[in-house]
Amino acid sequence: MNTDYVRIFDTSLRDGEQAPGASMTSAEKLEVARALARLGVDVIEAGFPAASPDDLAAVKTIAAEVGQAPVSGRPQADPPVICGLARCTRGDIEAAWEGVRGARHPRIHTFLATSDIHMKHKLRMERPQVLARAVEGVALARSLCADVEFSPEDAGRSDPAFLYEILAAVIKAGATTLNIPDTVGYTLPDEFSALIAGIIANTPGAKDVVISVHCHNDLGLAVANSLAGIRAGARQAECTINGIGERAGNASLEELVMAIRTRGEKLGLRTGIDTRQLCRVSKLISRSTSYPIPPNKAIVGANAFAHESGIHQDGMIKNALTYEIMRPEDVGATQTTLVLGKHSGRNAFSKRLTELGFPLEGEVLARAFAAFKRLADRKKSVHDADLIALASDERSPVPELWTLEDLQVSCGTMGLATASVRLHGPDGASHVHAAIGAGPVDAVYKAIDALARFPVSLLEFNINAVTEGIDALGEVSVRVRHDDERSSHGHGADTDIIVASAKAYLAGLNQALARHGGIPSQHAQKSAASVDPAKAPA
Ligand code: KIV
Ligand code: ZN
Repeated sequence: MNTDYVRIFDTSLRDGEQAPGASMTSAEKLEVARALARLGVDVIEAGFPAASPDDLAAVKTIAAEVGQAPVSGRPQADPPVICGLARCTRGDIEAAWEGVRGARHPRIHTFLATSDIHMKHKLRMERPQVLARAVEGVALARSLCADVEFSPEDAGRSDPAFLYEILAAVIKAGATTLNIPDTVGYTLPDEFSALIAGIIANTPGAKDVVISVHCHNDLGLAVANSLAGIRAGARQAECTINGIGERAGNASLEELVMAIRTRGEKLGLRTGIDTRQLCRVSKLISRSTSYPIPPNKAIVGANAFAHESGIHQDGMIKNALTYEIMRPEDVGATQTTLVLGKHSGRNAFSKRLTELGFPLEGEVLARAFAAFKRLADRKKSVHDADLIALASDERSPVPELWTLEDLQVSCGTMGLATASVRLHGPDGASHVHAAIGAGPVDAVYKAIDALARFPVSLLEFNINAVTEGIDALGEVSVRVRHDDERSSHGHGADTDIIVASAKAYLAGLNQALARHGGIPSQHAQKSAASVDPAKAPA
């Protein structure tokens, strides 16, 4: 199996979603899965179906919608493999099969810990029991699905001799991919390389299956370890966009793919990823999880191609190769200015959005177009990044229970920050409230809280300019939590950052409300505090 092609297995929707607070709604997961398919990933790990009915439903939807149809713009003609994770139990494996069976290329990924520390303290099982359970699980998975991946969890700290034994046994039971996880991000590159080489050399049958690597980033070595494993013979790499995942995260897809591409001559390897989409998909994941992208993040950070020092700038002017090992356009980091102005038509607007991976239709397209017109009125030039921010705002997959109608703030050094907010409520009426706060955003959030009467605590607030310039769109993302439920996140963009902040908070609040099971009863009917829009103060 030692060709030069490295399969890219994206687990942003499974391991990535396990990052604290990174949970996505089913609609967001579907949007991410579509983007991953267009990016050209070979395998999408769509979730952990046994975790909850919602997770199962999300995996099923992805299998049906992304795992069936040929994906427009995808480098490979075929839809990607859709994979579901399962512990080595009948219930989990059957749930995983239920989740992925609707895909053209379904895969069940089952795992069981093999390190002494995990077997003793977590599983409370001896080696022979673990081996028997793994074989049983793989055989069951294989009776359901032709494509079965097995992972010996914590392989990085497992006894290699036991790994050879259990891996040989699961190959016999029908495993087609063996994934070797460095679950706790403990190994060093030379150790991980030796582990993979040892598995290939000493496991009967290993040369007939795909060997995969899955490295965590606790010591910042996930990409280095993945590359070391690939150079030792692995031909699948598991990774996540922006490196999101448990604790310090997983190997970052964009870093790994660009290392393989940029150092292609030395490595003699290739992937099927359309690298020009990397920045866009990175932004989508950041928005969907509300995990900001650090400016110095390799490949996709805002500064990844910025040159500040005079010496560097001088070199760049003379020849970009002096300080740039990759071209910004190769990772989609260039700011294309849309040659559309406020007189441009809806068709050109819609065509550009489709090219950018945001095919909008009907009412959503109409709303996005109206927002584009408003923006074009206020902003000199509209960039692709602005369009993406607008499109993702309008395409918000969260039910819009509360929406912003109007807002006015007064703030500064001469008095208390005050906000008047008018919202469209779930009862169909307008509701108005004014509040004071420590600053304008606080005042707006207090007014919204008073109207929605659904208390949430603000866990995180991030604000970024989408593009350069004083007239840039401000993009706000927030994470909120109601009681001790799962946290929800929201995102909003506007040239007015207070408006963007209000939109983001409302999106987070709406998601929290939807998670909670809908609107509190006091809003089911038009409430006494509501205002008839016709009679509302102007
Ligand atoms: O890190 C890990 O061990 C995992 C397995 C489930 C593959 O995520
Ligand atoms: Zn993992």
